[in-house]
Amino acid sequence: MKNNKLKLSVVAMTGFAVLMWAGTSSVAGEKRCTAGGVKVECPTQSDAALKKASDAYEKEANDMAKGKSGSTYGISVFDYLTGVGKRAKKGSATAGESGYGSKHAGDTGGRHTELWDRVKAPKKGEAVYNQWTNNWSPTFKSTLVQGADPNEGKQWYYVYCIACHGWTLQGDGPNAIELDPRPRTLTKGSYMNKKTNLELFTVIKGGGEAVSLSSSMPDWGNVLLDQDIWNVVAFVRAMQDVKPPKDVNDYLAPKSSFKPIAGDVNPLNAPKSADFADAQELLEAGMAGRGGKNLVGGGYVNGGLRKAPKNVAKKVSAGY
Ligand code: HEC
Repeated sequence: MKNNKLKLSVVAMTGFAVLMWAGTSSVAGEKRCTAGGVKVECPTQSDAALKKASDAYEKEANDMAKGKSGSTYGISVFDYLTGVGKRAKKGSATAGESGYGSKHAGDTGGRHTELWDRVKAPKKGEAVYNQWTNNWSPTFKSTLVQGADPNEGKQWYYVYCIACHGWTLQGDGPNAIELDPRPRTLTKGSYMNKKTNLELFTVIKGGGEAVSLSSSMPDWGNVLLDQDIWNVVAFVRAMQDVKPPKDVNDYLAPKSSFKPIAGDVNPLNAPKSADFADAQELLEAGMAGRGGKNLVGGGYVNGGLRKAPKNVAKKVSAGY
């Protein structure tokens, strides 16, 4: 692991705090999971795919550290992570290359990428990290989980989940190869669409152990508010069977295969759900030091986010 230090320093720069879990809990765990109550093979990427993803990440990171033109990782990690916007326009003097855009602050000269050119001014009070991810991520116009907002959920996902599950939820984050069992491919509709909202809420809040899976899937209940978790669930639902994008437009408008399950628990009806109350009782018992409103996340995601549940619901019922 001679490049590990570099990888971590780049990660620190880019705000991927999650990497601190890398390799700390590689407990060989359950290889078979359930979907719709039936035992199935857990959807994960092949080792070859994970190795390739990890190598590509490392190469980009090292190129960036050397200041090599053609690397974009330090500024726009998303070229590699999304697989789009990587190359300069065909026929241009720099075709086939990508690099730092010359018209942006901190540039070293070189070429833009399509996603980099999408930079918009930050909204008032918007955290830098939010602005950064918003520039290069899809914006959803509707939700598949009533009372939850995928646009807020994606922010948390991009801070806490990508290192393992990958930027496009394909289970190929830079850390994935180091984990056993491998992180789930969170876009596999044939598996994920059979899970109830409550199952997803439970595994995110309580971690793998809350659903008899591996502790390599951390618990997030001491970092995220319940509404944040619901918002992440809405984001995951919005990404089912979304294929690796062909181009930027494809990337920005993902089409999900998920259809809401009749009678499923969501943040609007949760207060009346006995199943939800039971799950919460167990989850909360396992959470040391939960701080209610004091749950601040990693400090990356603030500004426009963190609306109260009733305001999220109001926004959702009024339509986006
Ligand atoms: C440190 C790596 C890591 C991080 C970070 C991580 N996960 Fe996971 N996740 C895993 C692993 C590993 C598994 C598979 C566990 C198993 O098979 O036992 C998993 C499984 C899952 C599952 C599938 C559960 C099931 O029922 O099959 C969901 C959903 C999930 N993660 C969501 C998330 C979300 C959302 C985040 C961010 C808030 C996140 N994960 C962050 C490693 C991670």
